[in-house]
Amino acid sequence: MRAAGAVSAQTVAVVGATGLVGGTLLRVLEERRFPVRELRLLASTRSSGARLRFRGQELDVRNAELAALEGADLVFFAAAAELSRSLAPAAAERGAVVIDKSGAWRMQEGVPLVVPEVNGAALRGHRGLIACPNCTTIGFVMALEPIRRAAGLRSVVVTTLQAVSGAGREGVEELEGHDHGVFPRRIAGNVVPQCESFREDGYTTEEAKLLHETRKILDLPELAVSMTCVRVPVVAGHSAAILVETERPLAPAEAEEALRAFPGVVVLSGNEYLTPAEIAGRDEVFVGRVRRDPGHPNRLWLWQVADNLRKGAATNAVQIAEALLNTGPL
Ligand SMILES: NC(=O)c1ccc[n+]([C@@H]2O[C@H](COP(=O)([O-])OP(=O)(O)OC[C@H]3O[C@@H](n4cnc5c(N)ncnc54)[C@H](OP(=O)(O)O)[C@@H]3O)[C@@H](O)[C@H]2O)c1
Repeated sequence: MRAAGAVSAQTVAVVGATGLVGGTLLRVLEERRFPVRELRLLASTRSSGARLRFRGQELDVRNAELAALEGADLVFFAAAAELSRSLAPAAAERGAVVIDKSGAWRMQEGVPLVVPEVNGAALRGHRGLIACPNCTTIGFVMALEPIRRAAGLRSVVVTTLQAVSGAGREGVEELEGHDHGVFPRRIAGNVVPQCESFREDGYTTEEAKLLHETRKILDLPELAVSMTCVRVPVVAGHSAAILVETERPLAPAEAEEALRAFPGVVVLSGNEYLTPAEIAGRDEVFVGRVRRDPGHPNRLWLWQVADNLRKGAATNAVQIAEALLNTGPL
C-alpha cells in the first residue's frame, strides 16, 4: 500500500457508479466542485453500454476491474463488499487513495473509519485505504459526539428506523412492489424489526455494525450501546430514537447548545423535530426532541434523522476526500 499521503485529486474513479450511493456521489462531487480532471465510472457487466452524466458530459460506464483503476489518484468504492475486498487493496498498492463505502474494511485494524467532524484526526497516517461507516452509524455518532464532549458518555440505547434505500436500488424497488427478497417481510405498509440477517447472539448484522463501528469511531472500545434496527417503508432518511446516559448530568438546554455548536448538526429546540421526508437531500444531521428521562438525571432522549444516501454515504465520503486535499500530506 502507498505511504501515508494526501490525495492529488486528478483522476477519480467511482466503483458502483450506477447504484444509489454511486449516483449520489456524482451529484455531491458536482455540487461541492470537487477537483476532478478525469472521472472514471465503473459498475458490473450488467451496466455495460450505460452512460451517466457528470458536469454536463456523458461518460461511459466501464467494467469494474483493476485495469480500469490503473493511474487513478482517488477511488470511491460504492459497490458490493466482496468487490472492495478483491480490488481495493490492489488499487491502494498502485498509489490510489481508496475511500470505501462498503462494510469490507471498516473494522480492519490500521484502516481508519472516519466521520470527519467526529474523528477526522484518524486520517493521519492512513495507508491508502480509508473506510466510511455504515449509513446508520454516521448520524448516530454525529449526535453522540457533542454530548460526549459536553458531559461524557456512559451508555446509549437506540432504536433506528431505517429507510429502504439503505438496502440499495432493489430495496427501493421492493417498496414499490417488486419482489427481490431484500427484506424478510413485506415492507409496504409495515415495519420490520430486522435489518440484514441474524447472528447467533440474537442481534442482526446491521445492529452489530452500529455497535462496533460506533466504538471504533469514538475510540471508546467499552462503550455500552444497546440497539434495535428496524426497517420502515420510507424511501430515504434514517431516523433514530436515542437514550443517552452521560457521565455528568446535562440539562436539555445544555445538550442543545453543545449539539448546535457542532459542525454538520442542526438542532431543533424543545418539542420540535424533523422527519425523513423533510430532510431528504440535505447533508446535515438533525436532532430534536431533546428531553430528560423522567427516571434519571443523567439520561436524555434525542430524536435524530439524516439522509442515508447523503451524509450517511456520499457526502461523508467526499468530505473525507476534501479533508485529504485540504490538509496536504497527513
Ligand atoms: N444505500 C445506502 O444508504 C448505503 C449507505 C452506506 C453504505 N452503503 C454501501 O454502499 C455500497 C453501495 O450501495 P448502494 O445502496 O448504492 O447499492 P445499489 O444501489 O444496489 O448499487 C450497487 C452498485 O454496485 C455495483 N455492483 C454490484 N455488484 C458489482 C460487481 N460484482 N462488480 C461491479 N459492480 C458491482 C452495481 O452495478 P450494476 O448497476 O452494474 O449492477 C451498482 O453500481 C454497498 O456496499 C452498501 O452497503 C449503502
